Amino acid sequence: MPEPKTALVTGAGRGIGRDIALSLAREGYACGLIARTKSQLEETADLIRKAGGKALVTPTDVSKREQVLASVEAVERELGPISVLINNAGAYLKKPLTEITEEDFDFQLKVNTYGPFFCTQAVVGKMAERAAGAIIFVLGSETRGGPAQYSAYTASKVAQRAIAESVAYEFMHRGVHAAALDVDGAVDSARVREAMPDTDPSHFVSPAQICAEIIHLINQPKSSWTFQVDLRSYVQWRPRASAKKKP
Ligand SMILES: NC(=O)c1ccc[n+]([C@@H]2O[C@H](COP(=O)([O-])OP(=O)(O)OC[C@H]3O[C@@H](n4cnc5c(N)ncnc54)[C@H](OP(=O)(O)O)[C@@H]3O)[C@@H](O)[C@H]2O)c1
Repeated sequence: MPEPKTALVTGAGRGIGRDIALSLAREGYACGLIARTKSQLEETADLIRKAGGKALVTPTDVSKREQVLASVEAVERELGPISVLINNAGAYLKKPLTEITEEDFDFQLKVNTYGPFFCTQAVVGKMAERAAGAIIFVLGSETRGGPAQYSAYTASKVAQRAIAESVAYEFMHRGVHAAALDVDGAVDSARVREAMPDTDPSHFVSPAQICAEIIHLINQPKSSWTFQVDLRSYVQWRPRASAKKKP
């Protein structure tokens, strides 16, 4: 039996998640789309359908386990067994350490750690039963050390990376490929260009290349699975790796 081509993409309402969903749809995947804002998911679904693809909008808060289970149930009922999960949804917080509240910290963990945990838990068992499937965790440079003012965000992303690695080792022998994609730098988008108007756009990571890497990862043969990929532009935005400026 050929592996079903159904993908579940979290954070598919805008940004990188929308691009990932569109590129999976171009590869023939029917896409279940998750985020909280229904109108943004509808926009992504329209783009997919206009290009001839299939999509199902399932407004979901990934930090709520029952909502994730309901979304997975709807996607599998309408589109078929999920063969690819992209854990992309993320909440972002930059705040001085002394100002981070307990609620802030909880929220980062709930979205960035519990979210991918719930989504993975909801699909991985059935993937393992079919001995096939891929789960990609979209991470950032934060997983390699926390910049100032990112302690809550970094903690949640490092924890997500730990889940990614455990899933890889726990399920590789059962045919499920899990991989961590570290996007090490700001990703090109209208929002990022507006926030960093003085930065040469070629210094941002290309969303098209993130999508291409994801397609590459999910198509890897079982004999040659990658666990971790780093993507960064040739000029790092973080000072530790920036090219030295000429005097
Ligand atoms: N942009 C960058 O420069 C960059 C760099 C490195 C890594 N990353 C990672 O890439 C991922 C996507 O980033 P992005 O810049 O595309 O983010 P974005 O533009 O803010 O979009 C985030 C998406 O996640 C959804 N989301 C947020 N909280 C959610 C929740 N509780 N439940 C379900 N969906 C939720 C959002 O929709 P709703 O708000 O409607 O729920 C939205 O669709 C993140 O994990 C981020 O850490 C981004």
